[in-house]
Amino acid sequence: MPLAKHEYMSDVWKDGIFNNKVVFCTGGAGTICSAQVRALIHLGANACIIGRNVEKTESVAREMATIRPGAKVIGIGAVDVRKFDDLKAAAERCAKELGSIDFVIAGAAGNFLASIEQLSINAFKTVMDIDIMGSYNTLKATLPYLVESGGKHRVDSGTLQPSPAGTGGRIIFVSATLHYRGMPFQAHVSVAKAGIDSLSNSVAIEYGPRGVTSNIVSPGPIAQTEGLERLLPSDAKAAYIKSQPLGRVGHVRDIADATVYLFSDSGSYVTGQTLVVDGSNWRMSGGI
Ligand code: HXC
Repeated sequence: MPLAKHEYMSDVWKDGIFNNKVVFCTGGAGTICSAQVRALIHLGANACIIGRNVEKTESVAREMATIRPGAKVIGIGAVDVRKFDDLKAAAERCAKELGSIDFVIAGAAGNFLASIEQLSINAFKTVMDIDIMGSYNTLKATLPYLVESGGKHRVDSGTLQPSPAGTGGRIIFVSATLHYRGMPFQAHVSVAKAGIDSLSNSVAIEYGPRGVTSNIVSPGPIAQTEGLERLLPSDAKAAYIKSQPLGRVGHVRDIADATVYLFSDSGSYVTGQTLVVDGSNWRMSGGI
């Protein structure tokens, strides 16, 4: 279902800030990641979205291409982030057809509610493979392009330039807040997201000198996502929303706006950080 502009980004950003930039996004046809990509396309970027479902990925890509005249959007389905070779081929195709990979969003994830007793060894491993190995494979497949873009856009001196050289060589891993406190029935995904947070920190330190920034965006409860729908019975929804510190849950636009900030010139000195976009949900008792 196409989103209206106000549903995927706020009105504060300047058109064209991502002209000639390319974003590569796993899970790009999903509820949260597709909003992130939509905002970047609106602001000038071309995009390659990666998914497992061919029909869904290609149809979301076709619809995204209508966001801005001239936008180029490739949808590559049948890619399982657990398979490095799939991702490597997708990254090569993206760079060949769109010219570069300046931004990466590692968004593909797998989750379900299950107690530790219910979780089979294979169930736990499946989530590790999709979330941790999938994020690592995404990083590994796109790193040569990120380093190339980071090198081009690196600011070598501390002197502020009136017209910054632009932005590139940036990765965002989409994480969660579940593991900050401990969450029943979510041991598997909590372990995985803690690992992803750690991976991002390593990338920031190891690849900062080559102009690459790496950050985590951690969504809280976001309306209309599979995560929230699964965790929250419908008869508890109204009371849940009322109990939140800001009296609302998040929208995908909140996550897209955070992404635009981190990929923009305004975010150029932010790396190795976690941007929690959750209305302070995790700090309250009974968060998420
Ligand atoms: C217990 C389960 C289970 C469940 C699957 N398994 N669902 N165990 N409870 N509800 C077990 C299976 O029995 C199997 O173990 C193992 O997990 C692998 O299952 P498969 O179906 O073979 O795996 P696969 O087809 O690869 O599917 C992966 C998946 C699936 C994670 C299970 O749900 C998926 O692909 N999801 C992608 C979309 C998704 O979940 N998005 C939500 C992201 S939300 P055995 O032992 O039988 O072989 C998110 C946000 C987190 O991540 C924050 C929330 C607030």
